Amino acid sequence: MNARFSPSGPLRGRICVAGDKSISHRAAIIGAMAPGQMRIGNFLDAADTRSTLDALRALGVSADVHGDDVVIAGRGLRGARAPGGAIDVGNAGTLLRLLPGWLAFQHERSFTLDGDDSIRRRPVDRIAEPLGRMGGTIDARQGRFAPFTVHGAALHGIEYELPVASAQVKSCVLLAGLATDSTTVIEPVPSRDHTERLLMQAGAAVRREASPSGGVRTTVGNAGELGLERVEVPGDVSSAAFLIAAGVLVPGSRLLLEGVGVNWTRAGFLRIIQRMGANVLGELEAVGGFDPLEPVADLDVRSGPLGATTVEAHEVPLAIDELPLVALLGCFAEGETVVQGAAELRVKESDRIATVVAGLRALGAEIEGSSDGLTVRGTGGLRGGRLHAQGDHRLALLGAVAGLASREGVEVVGMQAAAVSYPGFAGDIARLVA
Ligand code: S3P
Repeated sequence: MNARFSPSGPLRGRICVAGDKSISHRAAIIGAMAPGQMRIGNFLDAADTRSTLDALRALGVSADVHGDDVVIAGRGLRGARAPGGAIDVGNAGTLLRLLPGWLAFQHERSFTLDGDDSIRRRPVDRIAEPLGRMGGTIDARQGRFAPFTVHGAALHGIEYELPVASAQVKSCVLLAGLATDSTTVIEPVPSRDHTERLLMQAGAAVRREASPSGGVRTTVGNAGELGLERVEVPGDVSSAAFLIAAGVLVPGSRLLLEGVGVNWTRAGFLRIIQRMGANVLGELEAVGGFDPLEPVADLDVRSGPLGATTVEAHEVPLAIDELPLVALLGCFAEGETVVQGAAELRVKESDRIATVVAGLRALGAEIEGSSDGLTVRGTGGLRGGRLHAQGDHRLALLGAVAGLASREGVEVVGMQAAAVSYPGFAGDIARLVA
């Protein structure tokens, strides 16, 4: 499906963005691992999170949708049922990497996971390797891709230093670590910590220490059954980021985004654009915070001029999904905007260095890719044109925002990809423009 986004008049009004995708996946999976009932409020209704509910149902979990709430009746730590066939994760990378953490300790049961074409290109050796060290077995196509089969086994604890800064890998090892005496994950730089916070809420002992090099050590283990009756999912800051970028770029805009999750391990984009001079006000969580309950804030966004910035490697995991938007904002900023240390972008739903560079260049941007990042020369605006989403939801949404802020508008080829994380985007924009 193609969709045209024309140069827009000011965006104005208040909006509650839909639930956080990362937290929705995690809440549902942790609910499935608990023996009781969990009610999840403001659960994201999008293709990715539907994949999670369907995958859990295939494991014998009941997941009932009541409006914006989902009620999960879980199976307990060791009670996942072996499904009849392969579990389809659709396009959901988080599901692909987190679920095996639970499945790896389901004794004498095997589980095959598969997904769409994009999922079949996402590496899973990054979880197979630590799970193997714990005594688990994953048989993957070519040793590193879906479809793959997890053979449940008794696991033992490990201390594991992440070779890539990945919250998905960390979460997988921590979930598996619940079935061990003690498992520690060492992150050289922090990444989103929603799993840790939810596990704490569910009664697991989670110890977190800062390491002298600026990284984090997180230890779990010996968990009895988990229990959590209610979780409220905050608004998704990654989806909000598209509205924020539109509000900053389209002259005369003023938006109030209500109830956005501002966990400091997720809010890197907000700090980056504040540094670029964007008028975005709100009470962000202090860096280093670790309250089990996810912090939320209302964000007040106004349009205004931007200056360039450099995003350093240590900031990358805290803003990984918003880096395409940093590139877009860089087109409008004064000076040269640089993103470095972001090679992980190459293994997202698309190779996001290649697709963002090609996509924005087709709209008139002066942008170059490198092996681990990109450089954009701000020209004060963007002409517009045609952008192919390449099956990547965040690229489709990027094209749409570029269109609103461009001189000639943007036709997004493959706009349906946006349904993976933000099905209501076009409707939200229409409301804010009116
Ligand atoms: C996610 C972590 C990030 C991010 C992805 C969601 C998560 O991936 O890009 O969209 O929910 O844990 P990595 O952890 O692989 O960097």
